Amino acid sequence: MAFSKSELDHLFTEAHTHHGWQDRALDEKILRQLYDLIKWAPTCVNGAPMRLLFLQSAEAKEKLVPCLLPKNVEKTRAAPVCAIIAFDTIWYEKLDFLSPHFDYKTAYKSNSALSEATAFRNSAIQGGYLILAARALGLDVGPMSGFNAAKVDEIFFQGTTWKANFLCNIGFGDHSKIYPRAPRLNFEDVCKVV
Ligand SMILES: Cc1cc2nc3c(=O)[nH]c(=O)nc-3n(C[C@H](O)[C@H](O)[C@H](O)COP(=O)(O)O)c2cc1C
Repeated sequence: MAFSKSELDHLFTEAHTHHGWQDRALDEKILRQLYDLIKWAPTCVNGAPMRLLFLQSAEAKEKLVPCLLPKNVEKTRAAPVCAIIAFDTIWYEKLDFLSPHFDYKTAYKSNSALSEATAFRNSAIQGGYLILAARALGLDVGPMSGFNAAKVDEIFFQGTTWKANFLCNIGFGDHSKIYPRAPRLNFEDVCKVV
């Protein structure tokens, strides 16, 4: 079943990155609904390496401020929630549960370069699902990589096995503050069919 044009417009053609936010809180119920969609994203060996830290309180977001590029500070303060999309460096420890039919754990556990590359790639895919799932639930998002990841890891994840991938403000956007749409590349510029 294909989505209707208006559904596709909502998810893709008309969807914008948001930089300003309405003063409307998000409760945990909607964050749970959001995760209940994201969790179906496909990931390598069903490893699901993404971990999410939702910063909701002003105090939690203020701890993030020293890690942000200046242009990302005010929009993050104004957003109801800023999600740290992270990954667990020992994600493979859950493979007995997540991938019960094959032993993939041994290969990843013994190869840290492979396991970290897999965690980064797949947590980014899961983060992309977060963006689409949020839009499907009628929320808006503002993803950000303008931050110091090492500092985020130190402040939020010291003593854990989590590492930051990217950030994403989530809430109800202030549509008067979106930036003008920049162009996109054409099929001919990007795709080859062989
Ligand atoms: C991974 C990622 C990192 C981004 N980092 C930032 C950022 O640090 N600050 C910012 O203002 N926008 C950031 N953006 C937003 C992009 O600039 C924006 O999505 C793009 O220009 C398209 O804008 P549009 O959705 O309004 O068409 C980021 C987007 C992504 C997906």
